[in-house]
Amino acid sequence: MISEYTKNDLSYILNVINDAALKYKGVIPESCWKEPYMPKQELISEFENDLRMFGYDKNNTLVAVMGIQEVEDVTLIRHAYTFSDYQGMGIGKLLLQYLFKINTSSSLLVGTWKDATWAIRFYMKNGFVLHTRKQTNLLLERYWQVPLKQVENSVVLEKQVYQSNISKV
Ligand SMILES: CC(C)(COP(=O)(O)OP(=O)(O)OC[C@H]1O[C@@H](n2cnc3c(N)ncnc32)[C@H](O)[C@@H]1OP(=O)(O)O)[C@@H](O)C(=O)NCCC(=O)NCCS
Repeated sequence: MISEYTKNDLSYILNVINDAALKYKGVIPESCWKEPYMPKQELISEFENDLRMFGYDKNNTLVAVMGIQEVEDVTLIRHAYTFSDYQGMGIGKLLLQYLFKINTSSSLLVGTWKDATWAIRFYMKNGFVLHTRKQTNLLLERYWQVPLKQVENSVVLEKQVYQSNISKV
């Protein structure tokens, strides 16, 4: 049910992202919100920057996506979205566990909006630890390319991976 999705699947991926991201509307600062939340060109550039996307298919419909991007010595979890009707059913957890299995770095980082309390809870329940404001700023500057306004309104969480658990494939 989980497989890799590519540039050929843009419209299906965008469909999930732009539906799930509606949860941010009215929660994150208005200046950070846009509609559609992820324009097509933005996703194309992400793929060009070595983003790999994985998706969960239910009855031949893509209902959730989650990506990884290897940057320097870490792996970033990128663009985690479950279609709104399917949130809270354990699909996000399955995708995250799949990414844990294929990951080859000793550190997994994820950035999200500081007001997206549900997402922070989701990552903490799955073993991530919240970084301080100072550390968040340093990590965002080093591993991401985000505008200042987004930095100010984001948090970074990290999950350390023990060497013996790192995938050998
Ligand atoms: C954050 C997100 C990706 C998580 O995906 P998900 O498929 O909803 O994740 P899960 O169902 O595995 O877990 C989410 C919650 O459902 C609960 N849950 C898990 N299995 C469940 C089940 N069978 N029945 C009911 N609830 C369940 C989890 O305990 C978790 O609870 P919490 O809200 O207290 O943390 C998704 O909710 C989403 O797209 N949110 C909007 C966009 C967003 O915030 N993205 C994060 C970008 S970094």
